[in-house]
Amino acid sequence: MSKNNKNITLDEAIHLSYSENLENHKHYLNSALVDYLGLINLYRRYVKAKGTSLWDDKGNEYLDFLGGFGSINIGHNHPKVNDAMDKVKELPNIVNSLYPLPGALAHNLAQITPGNLQRSFFCNSGTEAVEAAVKLAKASTGRDKIIYCDASFHGKSLGSLSFSGREKFKEAFYPLLSWGCKIPFGDVEALEQVLKDGKVAAFIIEPIQGEGGINVPPLGYLKKVREICSRYETLLILDEIQTGMGRTGKMFAFEHEEIVPDILCLAKALGGGIMPVGAIVTTDSIWQKAYGSIDKCLTHTSTFGANTRAMAASLATLEVIEEECLIQQAKEKGNYFIDKLNALKEKYNLVKDVRGRGLLIGLEFHSTEGVLNKLTGGLVKNLSMDFTGALITGELLSRHCIIVAYTFNNPNVIRLEPPLNVTYEQIDYMVDSLEKVLQKNKGFLSLASKSTKSLLKGSKHIFKSISSK
Ligand SMILES: Cc1ncc(COP(=O)(O)O)c(C=O)c1O
Repeated sequence: MSKNNKNITLDEAIHLSYSENLENHKHYLNSALVDYLGLINLYRRYVKAKGTSLWDDKGNEYLDFLGGFGSINIGHNHPKVNDAMDKVKELPNIVNSLYPLPGALAHNLAQITPGNLQRSFFCNSGTEAVEAAVKLAKASTGRDKIIYCDASFHGKSLGSLSFSGREKFKEAFYPLLSWGCKIPFGDVEALEQVLKDGKVAAFIIEPIQGEGGINVPPLGYLKKVREICSRYETLLILDEIQTGMGRTGKMFAFEHEEIVPDILCLAKALGGGIMPVGAIVTTDSIWQKAYGSIDKCLTHTSTFGANTRAMAASLATLEVIEEECLIQQAKEKGNYFIDKLNALKEKYNLVKDVRGRGLLIGLEFHSTEGVLNKLTGGLVKNLSMDFTGALITGELLSRHCIIVAYTFNNPNVIRLEPPLNVTYEQIDYMVDSLEKVLQKNKGFLSLASKSTKSLLKGSKHIFKSISSK
């Protein structure tokens, strides 16, 4: 690769062509990701986004049923959040002082959370919120162990990864933190067993597992978890990074069971899909035990954590959620959507399960793994787990201009997380399109063989590298 010492300006970058953009990604970013997205035909050059819609450089409109992996609850480029960016554009973004926006946002988070949740800490992402929560739990209890669940996902920095359930993301990084202990999701007996020794600082759990495959625990589970944690004075950390901000038809998913966590983790939609914002919210007593003295008040900080623009985006996001009754919309539209998907499940064998709450919905397909391995002579063995979800994702995008994705830890599950103000017409279009995909691919075999042909045609070098792993 030759270097020409010439920088691309912002204006040029905005107008780069499809192929120039692809070249930059291939040469300067994650080249294997470029191959991977190409394999399942997911390249597009999107040039505009508004509400639930995106437009590519050829003027085609797409519907976003992925919603930035749960970050776009209020829709793309919501005018209120964009206006908020304008309103604060002359305020200092980062200064060494106490300025009003973080205080106001922390005040608001204390109002919208139940019980004695009161104190916030701001950071820039989900994984940082989890790091902050686990450190706070350790520092305030003086205990060591952290319990987490099978198939959980809490982020990819080393601490969060140590407490996440999927081996594939962890195996290259061992030894990770040694004080984690994994238990099955939904199993209260297992939880009680591990808490009995009185040495556990916290149990971290998603109220509904997002990346694990939109796994909803049995009703009453979280209530029992709350009781058990309180009995053994173990802190309950709820990771609502994907489930929070109205997504499940309540502001926070734990409200379905009327419990209160000790530490709440937020990110993704908190920044309105425009600014990266992460947060934890906890009680005064937990915070004070850990960081409540002058010598400890700088123990856990973040340079950009409470920057003005991020705080303005979050303040505006909370206003939008309330003004547009997005929580109610998530509930009603989620029920409508789930009913329609269940009707498809009755008709098509490929659909194994429909589950979720509000507009956090998982659509599980039967695996085509065995069929694909046979058809490719074992060539796709290492990737084949990823295929049913990937194939449906590719079909929906290329034939119907609908964006979805499968979940990280369970690739046979497609996640449906549109903006909460998605319209009924858009939901109908999505369901009709999905039905067309299922109609055309009635059996696993036709879906698998058609896709295998196109995969083999275009991607020989990729298969080579996959099969040698
Ligand atoms: C439940 C949960 N926790 C944590 C994270 C990590 O968030 P981030 O990617 O912002 O670090 C995610 C991301 O998908 C998530 O779904």
